[in-house]
Amino acid sequence: MSQKELTIGSMTVFVSQPYKVPQVTELIGRNEELELITAAWLAGPGQLPLAPLLLGEPGVGKNRVVHEVARRTGKDLFIYQGHEDVTAEDLACAVRFSDKSDRKMDYVVSPLVTAMIKGGICFIDEIAKIRPRALALLVSVLDERRYIDSTLLGERIVAHEGFRFVAATNTADLEGNAMPEFLRSRMRPVIPVGYPPREEIDSIVRSLYPRLNEHTGKLLDLFWLEWERNGQSTPPTPRDAIYVFNLALSLADFESLGGLRAMSADGEPFRVDQPGSASSLKESHLKRAMRELLPVSRENRP
Ligand SMILES: Nc1ncnc2c1ncn2[C@@H]1O[C@H](COP(=O)(O)OP(=O)(O)O)[C@@H](O)[C@H]1O
Ligand SMILES: [Mg+2]
Repeated sequence: MSQKELTIGSMTVFVSQPYKVPQVTELIGRNEELELITAAWLAGPGQLPLAPLLLGEPGVGKNRVVHEVARRTGKDLFIYQGHEDVTAEDLACAVRFSDKSDRKMDYVVSPLVTAMIKGGICFIDEIAKIRPRALALLVSVLDERRYIDSTLLGERIVAHEGFRFVAATNTADLEGNAMPEFLRSRMRPVIPVGYPPREEIDSIVRSLYPRLNEHTGKLLDLFWLEWERNGQSTPPTPRDAIYVFNLALSLADFESLGGLRAMSADGEPFRVDQPGSASSLKESHLKRAMRELLPVSRENRP
């Protein structure tokens, strides 16, 4: 039997694959969040692990915090992306046509059920986008019963003792009672993931773009000045800052590679997969990147 198959009761099923968290740059800050999630998950005799809910604006770093906890606890991470069309059965198991001659169908268990079987972490992202009718299936998973019933498999799957659960939602999706009370009361603690302070945003940019070297300080000052001047209604998220510096660097690289002149209609193809080489990032690149990427604030709208 291949590694991806296992048996549940009388059924042979395929499991979901864990997300191998890459060793990227270091996580900046977020100690309180790391501490609270990990503490909530400590469990022993008579002590159930809790199921925290991360709450914050898009791009603040909710996924990143979960990746970090998975890495530091050495557990496999199974991610389920929530959306409006998720059904209860999607949360447990799916079927597909089999390419094996001896069977018609394969059963593929979801990231949630895989984590329950293997004792890994299940992370449901954007959980508030999932409809209550589907979420009802989670209730027995999150209380002391720790099981899920799959109609397709006709089996009850009881979680391995190492199984842990965490979910995240954007603040806006939670407004108007989006998540039913039966679930909200089980998803605690609610951990707010706020906008990082300026020093942390600066550190994130510095650690991601060492290429900017001695110019980084000046460029960051400009970034914050422009952010203000632009009349943005919220502070920047890490994603905002990362995208801005990313595009600014790419604009600088494009220029240093010859720009539009190097991209003639009938000459050599312009390769977009060559590594960036610009030796400097001009203020104009950064300003342009901010103009292109950020929503136009109300005051500055034409
Ligand atoms: N504290 C942090 N340190 C380093 N990088 C971060 C941090 N927070 C967020 N990031 C980066 O910012 C981007 C957006 O974060 P993400 O976790 O996807 O946000 P969210 O899930 O809240 O929408 C990702 O590239 C992530 O790696
Ligand atoms: Mg996210």
